Parts: sequence; structure tokens; C-alpha cells
Amino acid sequence: MDLNKKAEETYSKFSSIDGNQNIANEYALKCILGLIETFKIKNVLEVGIGIGCIADAILEYSPTIEYTATEANEFCLNAIQKNIAQINRISLYADLSQIPEGKTYDLIIIDGTDESLEEVKRMCTENSVIFIEGGRSLQLKMLKSLFQTVLHTEMISNYKNPNYGPFSAENWSGGGQLIFPYPNNKMKLFYFIEKIRTYLKRKYRNFKN
Ligand SMILES: C[S@@+](CC[C@H](N)C(=O)[O-])C[C@H]1O[C@@H](n2cnc3c(N)ncnc32)[C@H](O)[C@@H]1O
Repeated sequence: MDLNKKAEETYSKFSSIDGNQNIANEYALKCILGLIETFKIKNVLEVGIGIGCIADAILEYSPTIEYTATEANEFCLNAIQKNIAQINRISLYADLSQIPEGKTYDLIIIDGTDESLEEVKRMCTENSVIFIEGGRSLQLKMLKSLFQTVLHTEMISNYKNPNYGPFSAENWSGGGQLIFPYPNNKMKLFYFIEKIRTYLKRKYRNFKN
């Protein structure tokens, strides 16, 4: 399955769903599916499943990935029952503090708030990758401070939002923040290439604006 197509299909599907004002950007979905492919992700934790846009993209893309998510909002908890076809594959918790000791994740996606965000440290292994949807500067700063050898790069798009969906077609499709808590050589190379890509895209965006 083509990951860009899956991201576009999912964004389009959620663009017409009630309560879609906080869904993930299309480019962020592409980034996440790309990370799953590159780093052979087998299990995912999503902080703030919302109405289910990211989860639906991932579960439809990968038939084997194990999925855990947090959510406390009543509207969202009802919405995901309808929005996510494979909802029965998800282990749901109200917040991070409820996740049992010893649970670790290959990919941790931050797309919501959590009082105990520092708990993600105990859920990371040396192979874990963290992706923050959008900017979320306070969460980024806090997460970076948890790890000594951390590498961080932005992931940005070079195209504008589609002319459907909750986000203005005048704005660039949003990506996110990529964090490698314990970077190995493969991660270091990925980081380096992504830094260059981001630099070039930023130049292109400045030229276009
Ligand atoms: C950016 S949203 C999460 C989006 C989610 N990852 C997705 O892909 O659909 C962050 C938080 O906002 C809240 N939220 C999202 N959509 C909402 C809605 N329509 N009504 C009320 N709260 C909402 C939820 O608590 C959610 O965890």
C-alpha cells in the first residue's frame, strides 16, 4: 500500500467528519507512516487519539501494528467508535499514568496534552522514536530535557493544505517534530538528511511566500 495515498485518503475521510477541527495535518500523516516504514515499527503509543485520524491511518496501513492510545475527552471517546474501522485493535487509557509499568513502544506520537508527559521516558527503549504532531513547543522542550543524547529535527512540507478539510488552503500542510531519544547510526543518518530537507523546504517556502 502506498503510504502517501493512505495519508491522503485518511485526511480526506476525516475532513468531512464531525469534530474534525483538531485532526492531524495530511503531511504529518505522511511523516508518521514513513517513520513506521523506515524504522520497522511494531507498536505505537498515541497520546491524544482525538477523533482517530492518526490511528485510523496507521491501522489501515499496517495489519499487524499493536496500538495503544490515551484519551479522556467524552466526545472523542464516542467519536472513535464510529470513525476507526479497526477500533478493536486499540488499547485505550485515560492518560499516561494508567499505562502499566514495563510497557514500551517503538513509536510514541504526541498529539494531545497529558499532565504526566514525563512518563513517556519509562516507555522508551533504545529503538524508540518520538513524533510530536505540529509545533507544541513546551512539550518538545520538556521531552528533549528527559534524554541526554537526544536528536531533534522538524519535519515540514513543501505544499499547502488541500482545499477541503479544517485547515486553510493558504497555509502549508503541517508536519511535526521528530525526536530520537537514543540515536543509533541509522537514526543519526535519518536526522542529518531530514535536517537538510527541512532547510531546503524552508528556503522554498520563504521564496514562495
Ligand atoms: C490535536 S487533538 C488530537 C487529534 C488526534 N490525534 C487525531 O488524529 O484525530 C488533541 C486533543 O484535543 C481534544 N479534541 C480533539 N478533537 C476534539 C473535539 N472535536 N472535541 C473536543 N475535544 C477534542 C482531544 O482531547 C484530543 O486528545
